[in-house]
Amino acid sequence: MPYENIIVETRGQVGLITLNRPKALNALCAALIKELGQALDAFEADGEIGAVVLTGSEKAFAAGADIKEMQSKTYMDAYLADFITNGWERITTCRKPIIAAVAGYALGGGCEVSMMCDFILAADNAKFGQPEITIGTIPGAGGTQRLTRAVGKAKAMEMCLTGRMMDAAEAERAGLVSRVIPAADLLDEALKVADRIASMSRPVVMLAKESVNAAFETTLTQGIKFERRLFHSTFACEDQKEGMAAFAEKRSPVFKNR
Ligand code: CAA
Repeated sequence: MPYENIIVETRGQVGLITLNRPKALNALCAALIKELGQALDAFEADGEIGAVVLTGSEKAFAAGADIKEMQSKTYMDAYLADFITNGWERITTCRKPIIAAVAGYALGGGCEVSMMCDFILAADNAKFGQPEITIGTIPGAGGTQRLTRAVGKAKAMEMCLTGRMMDAAEAERAGLVSRVIPAADLLDEALKVADRIASMSRPVVMLAKESVNAAFETTLTQGIKFERRLFHSTFACEDQKEGMAAFAEKRSPVFKNR
């Protein structure tokens, strides 16, 4: 499928999506979001693909929703089109793991898209922020919610009220990103991590993802119960037998469901 705003490639068992609107610092226009959804649909349906990496350029992962496209929207335009929910949430419904490999600016919708992914690997030049307040609006793709859950109220509130950006080191200290990597090595490392995930049992990876995500939606007691049920269900999967047999036999497992 020809894409205009993203580049879609496969690297073995990993799907790679590169946001590609360099002149607008990968601002997330409606056409880009639609293409991103189509690419995720294709990777989700592709049995060869076990994980996805979403990245941008060295200067910008994405500098936010496209301000020029949205500046003249009316309330009715926004409400009727369910602006921001519509299309963007596709990232959060993907059952295969998505790693955000973030270099440069991840601002506004860019920060929000990175937080919709399962985890963020950040280049040492990454900058995260919710600067919507500086243009007379507030985050509209989960920024006030996901950032607060990731870094806590104090930092999230300061960032949303002032538009202050967080650099990669601060983002790692605050728990927004899993690791910081030299910018030149970011994509290689993200692909390596995605390949490792893709080499595990596919259904078990999905169960693990589902269970971690449940931690954000449930009480601890409910979450523990949910985890326990999923844990029990892995014992019905031949890959659990293979994984544990391989450990006991001191060899590498060969997972069938991949
Ligand atoms: N939308 C549309 N165009 C954008 C854009 C955006 N979010 N961000 C950058 N661009 C465009 C610029 O207009 C500029 O285009 P022209 O060359 O045609 O003028 C081009 O990208 C390069 O940008 P700059 O010249 O500004 O580059 P810079 O290096 O001087 O500054 C920056 C970089 C600090 C990221 C600055 O571009 C900036 O502040 N961008 C806007 C950030 C922002 O406010 N994002 C939030 C958007 S609202 C949102 O995302 C709502 C939501 O919750 C979903």
